[in-house]
Amino acid sequence: MSYPLVRHRRLRNSAGLRNMVRETSIGVNDFIMPIFVMEGEGIKEEMASMPGVYHWSLDTMEQELAEIVGLGIQSVLIFGVPEHKDAIGSSAFEDNGIVQRAIRKIKTLYPELVVVADTCLCQFTDHGHCGVVHTSECGADIVNDESLQLLAKTAVSQARAGADIIAPSNMMDGFVAAIRQGLDEAGFENTPIMSYSVKFSSAYYGPFREAAHSTPQFGDRKTYQMDPANAREALREAQTDVEEGADFLMVKPALAYLDVVRMLRDRYDLPIVAYNVSAEYSMVKAAAMQGWIDERAIVLETLIGMKRAGADLIITYHAKDAARWLQEK
Ligand code: PBG
Ligand code: ZN
Repeated sequence: MSYPLVRHRRLRNSAGLRNMVRETSIGVNDFIMPIFVMEGEGIKEEMASMPGVYHWSLDTMEQELAEIVGLGIQSVLIFGVPEHKDAIGSSAFEDNGIVQRAIRKIKTLYPELVVVADTCLCQFTDHGHCGVVHTSECGADIVNDESLQLLAKTAVSQARAGADIIAPSNMMDGFVAAIRQGLDEAGFENTPIMSYSVKFSSAYYGPFREAAHSTPQFGDRKTYQMDPANAREALREAQTDVEEGADFLMVKPALAYLDVVRMLRDRYDLPIVAYNVSAEYSMVKAAAMQGWIDERAIVLETLIGMKRAGADLIITYHAKDAARWLQEK
């Protein structure tokens, strides 16, 4: 008598068979690589807690772009560190701001590369919050509607510089509608919005904030970013963005929130983006540098996990390494 009756291992018998029944795939077209730009010349500064990730000045950035394009990566996400910060983050929406100049340069060098612009104020405000701050005897308030105007202005200036996609990450209410209206009025009705729809208030942004010099100078982001304990609220956030005309929905961070990725995948037909954030990267790098894990295997497994959860695209600092490993395979 043969027992067990069902033998799952039959389909795992050989590499060929395993390739044939594989349900999910990952490829270079799935990746968006973040780039950090700053003022100055000849700068290539490695970030303390993100080995392999650098701050670039506009001249040295060419080196990074050549590598990215050479590996077949289709898209980059631009973050900028300005020279001057003020209360309303003026340098975020200057036509000659660091991000705007970087976008123009990238589009001149590589017109085909899809440039995504992160649209927020926190790197540009002296208080480090993602919106305008009003202070009274009751404390400080991050003012919603006033911030929307500035975000729309920022988005328009980025589109004018040549950004292919606007990615607002500020988590003010109504930001997709405000930015959509701003873009449409300025003649950019064909520029898509990749909304950071579901962005949790997360300790996983630590290394990024250090890198982007965007740590809030007081308080935290809990009045605008989401509580990590909430999934139903994530659906409400996504729903408003869909109604306001978002073209992509993003979940951020990725790893601790793959259930949310899956929920959005099942409910909406828009492309879903997972942001594999800074501390997710740092943890892998730190363990790999200790020789405790197999970096390549860990990274590819993590990325396929995000795809399996329902992500169509992944913003990841591992993009260059992963692209290289996939070529070698
Ligand atoms: C700013 C912004 C943050 C990240 C992307 N855009 C940080 C934050 O909200 O504090 C995080 C990215 C990362 O950790 O990799 N709005
Ligand atoms: Zn912000």
